[in-house]
Amino acid sequence: MATLDVAAIKADFPIFKRTVRNDHRLVYLDSGATSQKPFQVLDAERNFYENHNAAVHRGAHLLAEEATDAFEHARSNIASFIGANADDLVFTKNATEAINLIAYSFLNATLKSLRGADLPPGSERFVLAEGDEILVSEMEHHANLVPWQELCEKTGAVLRWIGLTEEGRLDLSDTSFFSERTKLVAVTHQSNLLGTVNDVTAIVKLAESVGALVFLDACQSVPHMPVDVVALGVDFIAWSGHKMLGPLGIGCLWGKSEVLSTMPPFISGGSMIESVSMERTTFAAPPKRFEAGVPMAAQAVGMSAAVDYLNDLGMASVAQHEHMLTEAALAGLAGIPGIRIIGPENSIDRGSAVSFVLEGLHPHDVGQVLDESGIAVRVGQHCAKPACLRYGVQATTRATFYIYNDLDDVDALVAGIYSAKKFFGV
Ligand SMILES: Cc1ncc(COP(=O)(O)O)c(C=O)c1O
Repeated sequence: MATLDVAAIKADFPIFKRTVRNDHRLVYLDSGATSQKPFQVLDAERNFYENHNAAVHRGAHLLAEEATDAFEHARSNIASFIGANADDLVFTKNATEAINLIAYSFLNATLKSLRGADLPPGSERFVLAEGDEILVSEMEHHANLVPWQELCEKTGAVLRWIGLTEEGRLDLSDTSFFSERTKLVAVTHQSNLLGTVNDVTAIVKLAESVGALVFLDACQSVPHMPVDVVALGVDFIAWSGHKMLGPLGIGCLWGKSEVLSTMPPFISGGSMIESVSMERTTFAAPPKRFEAGVPMAAQAVGMSAAVDYLNDLGMASVAQHEHMLTEAALAGLAGIPGIRIIGPENSIDRGSAVSFVLEGLHPHDVGQVLDESGIAVRVGQHCAKPACLRYGVQATTRATFYIYNDLDDVDALVAGIYSAKKFFGV
């Protein structure tokens, strides 16, 4: 496994050429929110617009042919990155839209069934009856919580959730949450607040024992570790391009082909149809069924370049690098008086999102002092309010590490926190 050459990596990211706040070097510790982009990704997107721009799957001309080829090549490349087939990968605006896609498929199937409509064979598993259950966890990002709350409210299904241990892990000691009524288990692979990496094998086993589908929110795992959907054994995953060096405005939903093929569409319109008459429409096979309208081809090409970039580094090396930084950060932070890590304090089954609170200091004040020194962190609830409340905090400061960070960045964070404490006299 190769060690990452951070200096060489940084040279690929134009943003690190600039300075911030009184000429400080940029210490970017907010990749959990969105990553920076290397010139390879920026060039790929620009090249698409400059040389091949056309609406994919629509024109009979050369540019349309080239644009379609580039778009479909991007699909295959991104699918391979997670060990999947291209036909099982759907492009969406972001992970949030991918999760809503599944939620609305359930809703649409349920509404049609209530009106006595004929559902295609296999679609019944998306029909929710009153009292059916959707199981999430207390550590979910709002993107993997609110759509399920909404779905339950509209259908009469019941939302249940797996609680968390003091240490910041899923509490699977009580498995009664998995019941005959559970239709879907929707959990995160890696918590964006706590850094916890969940035991997917255990979750899949429990879900299988009750016949439930499993959705994995892979926003914080696909960019950071090797992910193989076949090995994971889940039914769906979703993630966003912008957190893995790719452009904004593109995300992915992967689903097992036997599941996607029976799933009703979410957004309808052009490009997702098989045949249309004034009376009725039949829908195309996946992935097209879920990609109504002219898709984001330039972003797909950019995301594919991001995949190439990460493949060149090797995802095992990426994970190892982040593990090393996480260990250093946890060790450095542990020595600071009055600090409390929100999430596992050791680096076992843990990613690089490190959240903390400091006694006597508001996270926003910490973030502001760090920013004055060029250190970009995130403060607040990180779209995971229930998990914050579970640990009795209104907000945290969060540092997240990626391929362009090194031990100097960890040292800068620790020194910045001492400065904040000194500045506020705590
Ligand atoms: C774990 C997790 N899930 C879902 C999301 C939502 O991603 P997006 O806003 O790109 O749709 C995020 C973004 O921070 C996340 O960290």
